[in-house]
Amino acid sequence: MKEVDFLVIGSGIAGLSFALKVADYGKVCVLTKADAAEGSTRYAQGGIAAVIYDTDSFEKHIQDTLVAGAGICDEETVRMTITEAPERIKELIRYGIRFDKRPDGLYDLHREGGHSNFRILHHKDNTGAEVERGLLEEIHNHPNIELIENQYAVEIITQHHLGQWVTHHTPDIECYGAYVLDSRTKKVETYLAKVTLLATGGSGNVYTTTTNPLTATGDGVAMVHRARGKVADMEFVQFHPTSLYHPGEKPAFLITEALRGAGAILKTIKGEEFMQKYDSRLSLAPRDIVARAIDNEMKISGAEYLYLDARHLGKRALMEGFPNIFAKCLDLGINISNDMIPIRPAAHYQCGGILVDRNGESSIRHLYAAGECSRTGLHGGNRLASNSLLEAIVYAHNAAMDAIRKIKDISICHEVPDWNAEGLVFNEEMVLVTQTRKELQELMSNYVGIVRSDLRLKRAYDRLSLIYKETEDLYKRSVLTEELSELRNLIACAYLIIRAASQRKESIGLHYSVNYPPVEKQIN
Ligand code: FAD
Ligand code: SIN
Repeated sequence: MKEVDFLVIGSGIAGLSFALKVADYGKVCVLTKADAAEGSTRYAQGGIAAVIYDTDSFEKHIQDTLVAGAGICDEETVRMTITEAPERIKELIRYGIRFDKRPDGLYDLHREGGHSNFRILHHKDNTGAEVERGLLEEIHNHPNIELIENQYAVEIITQHHLGQWVTHHTPDIECYGAYVLDSRTKKVETYLAKVTLLATGGSGNVYTTTTNPLTATGDGVAMVHRARGKVADMEFVQFHPTSLYHPGEKPAFLITEALRGAGAILKTIKGEEFMQKYDSRLSLAPRDIVARAIDNEMKISGAEYLYLDARHLGKRALMEGFPNIFAKCLDLGINISNDMIPIRPAAHYQCGGILVDRNGESSIRHLYAAGECSRTGLHGGNRLASNSLLEAIVYAHNAAMDAIRKIKDISICHEVPDWNAEGLVFNEEMVLVTQTRKELQELMSNYVGIVRSDLRLKRAYDRLSLIYKETEDLYKRSVLTEELSELRNLIACAYLIIRAASQRKESIGLHYSVNYPPVEKQIN
C-alpha cells in the first residue's frame, strides 16, 4: 500500500497544473497509464482562448461561449472561467511556456469558429506539445511530486470496498484513493490518498474515427459512474469537422480550425463551396453546424471525404504558420499550397463528464475532477473552440485551492483491503476484447454519431446490452488487464452517451436527432 496526500490520475494539462499548485502543501503522486507526455493535451493544435488585449472584452468571449453552447451553459461558470483566464495564462507563461508573438512584440492571436474576435494564443500549430513540455519540466523540478508512468487506475476506492452498500442515493460517498494496475509488474497496487484528482481526459475512442489518442477511453467517467457518482451531459459529443482523411490512421490527424480562421475554405468533392447553404458564418460557423453540414454533403454525394482548400493562402504563410500540418500532408503526398486537403469529421471532444461544482469537486467527497473528464457547465450543448485547455487550467487551480483548504481535516482511511484477484484466470482469447472494441466503435459511429434518431438510439442500446453482458462475464472470471478494463470503460461511456441522448427529446447543440426540430434557447 502507498500513502500520499494528493493522488493525481492523469498527466495532461489538468493533472499537471493541479499537481504544481498543491505540491507545496503535501506529498503528490501523479500516475499516468502511458508515457508522461501522452494524452490529448500534447496533440492540441489551435491554442488557448483568452481575452488578452482591450481590443477584445470578457463580455464578447462570454457571449461567444454561451452562443456556441446553444444557450444551456451554466452562465456563472462561463463568467468565472473567462474572467479568471488571464491570471491562469500568466502562470503558464511564468512556467516558461511560449506563445507566438508578432514582430511588434504583441501576441499573435488566432481566430477559430464561433469566436467574434482574434483571441487564441498559440505556439505555431502545436500549442499542446509546448504546454505539455513546459508543465512536465516544472513537475520534474519539484521535490514533492513523484510522477510514475505506466500506472493504470482501475477503480477509485470508496465505502463500497469496505463492504458497505453504496447506491446513487447514498449521501456522502467518500473517496479514499484508487486501485492501480502497474503495467510492468501486472500487480494491482492500493494508493491511499487524502485527496484524489481525476484528470483522465476524454473518451473519443468510443468511436471508430477520433482525433483523440489511444489513452482517451473515458476511464475517469466510467470509474465515477461505477462508484455511483454523478455524470452529466454525455450526449454532447463534439465531432471536429476537419480531420485529415487517411483511413486506418489512429488517432486521426487534426487539421486545425485556425487554418479556416486564416481563410481556408470547405469545398465539396467536386471542389465547390457549400457552407453558404448552412450558415452565414460559412466555414467559421460553430463546430456542430459545420460538422453536420459536412456529414450531410458526404451523405448527398456518397463521398467518404470533402476538401479544405488552403491553396490561396500561399506556400510561405502555410509553411510558417502551420508547419506541422504542412509537413504531415507532404509526407502523404499532399502539397497543401497546390492541393486541396481531404478531410472528414472525427470524434474530438467530450463536453459532458464527471459533474463538478465550481471548485472542481465531484459528488463524491475528497474526489475532484478537472479537464476533459469533467463537466463544469462551461460548454453547455457545444464547446467553443480552444475553451478546453482554458477550462482545464481554471478548474485545476480552483480544485487545488479548495483541496488545500480542506486537506488538514481529512485523514487517510486505513481499513481499505488489497485488490482481490482470487480465483481469476488468464483470458487466453484476446480477440474477445479486440473484436468487441471494434463492434462497440462501429455501433456508436453508425447509430450515435453526428445525426441521431430514436430508432438508431434504440438499436444502439439493444446491441450495447449484449456487448455489456458478454464483457462483464469475461471481466468477472479474468485476471485484470488494461485492455479489458478499458473496454469496460468504453462500454460504460457508450451507455452514458446513449442514455443521455435517448432522454433528451429535442435537438440542441451537438445532440441532433431527426425526430425533433432544433431548439433555440434564449441567451440574455
Ligand atoms: P489529457 O491531456 O487527455 O490527459 C489525460 C491523462 O490521463 C493522460 O496522461 C492519460 O494517460 C491519463 N489517463 C487516462 N486514463 C487513465 C487511467 N485509467 N489511469 C492512469 N492514467 C490515465 N483544446 C483546446 O482548448 N485547444 C486546442 O487547440 C485543442 N486542440 C486539440 C487537438 C486535438 C488533436 C485533440 C485530440 C484535442 C484538442 N483540444 C484542444 C482538446 C484538449 O486538447 C483536451 O481537452 C485537453 O488537452 C484535455 O486535457 P486533460 O488534462 O483533461 O486530458
Ligand atoms: C483546433 O485546433 O481546431 C482544435 C481546437 C479545439 O479543439 O479547441
